Amino acid sequence: MEARFALLPGDGIGPEVISEARRVLEAVADVAGHRFSFTEYAIGGCAIDDHGVALPEATLEGARSADAILLGAVGGPRWSDPLASSRPEDGLLAIRSELGLFANVRPVRTQPQLADAAPRKREIIEDVDSLFFRELTGGIYFGGSTTTSEGATVADHMRSSVHEIERIVRLAAEAARHRRGELTSVDKANVLAVSRLWRSVADRVMSEEFPDVEFETVLVDAMAMHLLSRPRDFDVVVTGNLFGDILTDEASMLPGSMGMLASASLGASGPGLFEPIHGSAPDIAGTGTANPLAMILAAAMALEHSLGLTDESIRIHRAVDVVLDAGIRTPDIAAGGPVVSTVEMGTAVVEALDRTTS
Ligand code: IPM
Ligand code: MG
Repeated sequence: MEARFALLPGDGIGPEVISEARRVLEAVADVAGHRFSFTEYAIGGCAIDDHGVALPEATLEGARSADAILLGAVGGPRWSDPLASSRPEDGLLAIRSELGLFANVRPVRTQPQLADAAPRKREIIEDVDSLFFRELTGGIYFGGSTTTSEGATVADHMRSSVHEIERIVRLAAEAARHRRGELTSVDKANVLAVSRLWRSVADRVMSEEFPDVEFETVLVDAMAMHLLSRPRDFDVVVTGNLFGDILTDEASMLPGSMGMLASASLGASGPGLFEPIHGSAPDIAGTGTANPLAMILAAAMALEHSLGLTDESIRIHRAVDVVLDAGIRTPDIAAGGPVVSTVEMGTAVVEALDRTTS
């Protein structure tokens, strides 16, 4: 098949990890007989530098007309002036919202080969296999903010609508049907009005439309604790934008590194956007030490979700497993052992792809 990828490398380690994901996709196209094309567009801090805005019109148009979008990371200290009118993160939020990417899907799976690199004990993290659904275009991220009394008081508004809650809960519940059949909804209904709406809508959707899915509701503070004490208990988790952001960073410590976790941002139609859950890591940018596996796994999600190439996606996952089995490690997952560079890790995955069959 033919497919067009929009590549949005962004800032920090973004370009380094994107170029490894691209090499892996090129190798997949080679072995499976597809024709993939790639066009790069600016986003984030580098777009502010070159175009004056974090999301240039050409990037949005290029992303819209692609079959799938891969994004590296945005942000960095160079653009963190609190008084700046434009911030790199604005570009990411704008593209999510403009493309209607309301569902952010973040798989959290622990790999047995990495158990020793993870900060939690092996017996706690063994066999963790969860799928987080984070609502991505609502909540406090998109409620706007107000400043009064010349900056003495600032408010960010958390808002949500019945429609937004229904669609993300439905998507998560559908996914649960194809897995262990369990859904956990996370909110803060004991304090927030938005969460009380969330809970009542989730309860209704689940009892009316998904009586076959085992459903529970957990408060976000308790969830933060359960994720560390009994992470295996969670199959599919659905939550709002801010809670999803925080809980998935926490969950990334189960596999052991943010460098291992990928995510898909999906809308009702149109291309999905695929990115690692990690940020731009400006402290290690340019050192060749970033772990490209999260970005490579995000590319695998793109093949599965946007192009329907499930076999090819599985092939990438297998190749990553082969590489980990062989003990090949970037510093974030090395537990003090020998390490390879970002490019060497990409090469190892490409070579392993040739040896795995779909
Ligand atoms: C993420 C990131 C972003 C978010 C930032 C970079 C705006 O942390 O994708 O999780 O908060 O959504
Ligand atoms: Mg985050």
